[in-house]
Amino acid sequence: MRRKLIALGGASLLLGVSMLAVQAQEVAPTTPPDPPKFEAQGFPTFVGVKDIFEFKALPEYHEPDWVTKQFVDTGKLPAVKDRLPKEPLVYKTANMPDGVGVYGDVMRHVIGGRPEGWNYMAGQSQGWGGIDIGTMECLTRTGPLFEVKAEELEPLPNLAKSWEWSEDGHKLTMHLIEGAKWSDGVPFTTEDAMFYWNDNVQDPNVTPLNGATPESFGEGTTLKALDDYTLEWTFKEAFPKQYLYQMAYGTFCPGPAHIFKPLHPKYSSNTYDQYKNAIPPEYLNVPVMGAWVPVEYRPDDIVVMRRNPYYWKVDENGNQLPYLNEVHYRLSTWADRDVQAVAGTGDFSNLEQAESYVEALKRAADPSAPSRLAFGARTIGYSLIPNLSGNGWGEPDERGQAVRELNRNLDFRKAVSYALDRQHLGESLVKGPFTAIYPGGLYAGTTYYDKDSTVYYPYSLDTAKALLEKAGLKDTDGNGIVNYPADVAGVGGKDVEITLLANSDYQTDKSLAEGVIASMEALGLRVVANFQAGNQRDATYQAGKYDWQIMRNGAELISVVQNTVALAPTGPRIANNHRAGKDGTVDLLPFEQDMVDTVNSFINTSDPAARVEAMKKYQKLFTENLYTIGLTQYPGALIINKRFANIPAGAPIFMFNWAEDNIIRERVFVPGDKQQAYELHPNTLPGAPGKGNGPIN
Ligand code: GLA
Repeated sequence: MRRKLIALGGASLLLGVSMLAVQAQEVAPTTPPDPPKFEAQGFPTFVGVKDIFEFKALPEYHEPDWVTKQFVDTGKLPAVKDRLPKEPLVYKTANMPDGVGVYGDVMRHVIGGRPEGWNYMAGQSQGWGGIDIGTMECLTRTGPLFEVKAEELEPLPNLAKSWEWSEDGHKLTMHLIEGAKWSDGVPFTTEDAMFYWNDNVQDPNVTPLNGATPESFGEGTTLKALDDYTLEWTFKEAFPKQYLYQMAYGTFCPGPAHIFKPLHPKYSSNTYDQYKNAIPPEYLNVPVMGAWVPVEYRPDDIVVMRRNPYYWKVDENGNQLPYLNEVHYRLSTWADRDVQAVAGTGDFSNLEQAESYVEALKRAADPSAPSRLAFGARTIGYSLIPNLSGNGWGEPDERGQAVRELNRNLDFRKAVSYALDRQHLGESLVKGPFTAIYPGGLYAGTTYYDKDSTVYYPYSLDTAKALLEKAGLKDTDGNGIVNYPADVAGVGGKDVEITLLANSDYQTDKSLAEGVIASMEALGLRVVANFQAGNQRDATYQAGKYDWQIMRNGAELISVVQNTVALAPTGPRIANNHRAGKDGTVDLLPFEQDMVDTVNSFINTSDPAARVEAMKKYQKLFTENLYTIGLTQYPGALIINKRFANIPAGAPIFMFNWAEDNIIRERVFVPGDKQQAYELHPNTLPGAPGKGNGPIN
């Protein structure tokens, strides 16, 4: 009897367990909770494109007096009117928050990145934090779009001053600014654009920074130069206006062909590696189309840039821009950027590492604080990104391949998602109303977000464990970590061990990685951190050499219209989590194919209702299938020293681009009575391009 009872007890216990498992399975997906209220500080005044600038000739032009006296009057430089293009880009006074500015002073940036060199066309990082944004100019421009009216929303003209579509919409003719010059005085022409396109984007051996590939502009797209100032695009689709966004930062910003072309393997005996690394950071005065030119570089210390004497933008009074004579990039850490901007020893920060919010807010609240701080919308988001390639991207070993197979299993991805307490993860960064639960996909609070199309797997460890078991993983040796089934090649019976790549330059990336690792331990997965410094991390993930990674999301998830192609693996080298394997194909999962089709349908229609529907479908596919696994989303704050004028209200730290672009730095100035003697090389201009050439006097 007793035995029987025990047996019965055992059976009912078993029953209990399996019922629990069944119930656990029933923790159903839901829609995510609404983010806590958080008021953005400052809103833009929305304007039309023509309100911001136009291209036209002015009756006269001006420059700082010292430039005329020291350089023009002595014959070292042509007169300013001859250095400017036929029709410069003219900023309208009415759109300048503080009007026409005065020359002088410096913007002192602090950055956590390090310049690898100046060949961004071949993938070298300049160190981020605005160095690249300040040196590169692109066919179109998107940063300032945060203040453009919805009905006029389209990339701003820039190096391409105008364009028209053919009647059938397959051809786009672009007119480049005529007579503009690189900072060394060499004319800027279609030759530069064609070198970027033919020998960098189209050359499979070259990966430009920010990952432009031919598919970034649509499969089968071609580009040719009709003359020095006219480009002609031919697209397979009709009116794919989306690609105008791809022609902005950082996917169509040509570098100087006269410097880089002779170094390219096609025109020299260099290898691709030599080409990429031929112009190191020590090479000063590299010609740029941007407002400032690098004139000094001290490793781990500073990059100094001086005004570009050939800059092609002016104010309505004909004053050649920029107003600021110099910009600095102190080579420090991203966290130090926040500290210094708040303290007043630096001038600018995108406050984006949530760990420092409370302290920064406290200090900025003091009326005598040197800088102002304004929060924007919740557009900083982080995701856990499983590598979805099953056919060899990054050449995984047997262990790595086994993880890829798990990554490609929806039950496994769901288990991971259910095991994450996102509320807690967010609060571990910062307490208060900042962070919001982020299930992945488009952000709550943005134009195309639809809550009802968003699938959220709420925190439930039991459900997570049941799903892991469904995916075939059990803790067979009782050590708390689940094991592979016996028949998995190379790792049969072994503990499941996953590496997690994260950027060690940012505290937030590290904190989130640690949070994920702890959550996965509770689930029974051993996750091992692989922290790498920014540039190294970028190279690692671009080579596909990771199992999982933590990543700050790109701009495509905010605006959708920017970098739309990156919303799904629409090309062999486009997605961060799924690129072509050894055979050159991307082994898309069925839901990914649906995502690709949905994104393409969005690109190929301009019907607003169809676009809204496409994005609803996209959001559902993304979040239900956990294409990537969302973690947290929160607002960033722009910190700028109070002495600067012409900072537009409501400039977000990240929307179509980073704040370094959004605030239109070439228009920013310091009123005379507030100017400081921060210039390290006063009264100098960039010298001849080359190694070790400092600024000339
Ligand atoms: C880095 C920083 C951002 C921003 C960008 C600009 O990514 O973290 O805040 O400054 O550089 O390129």
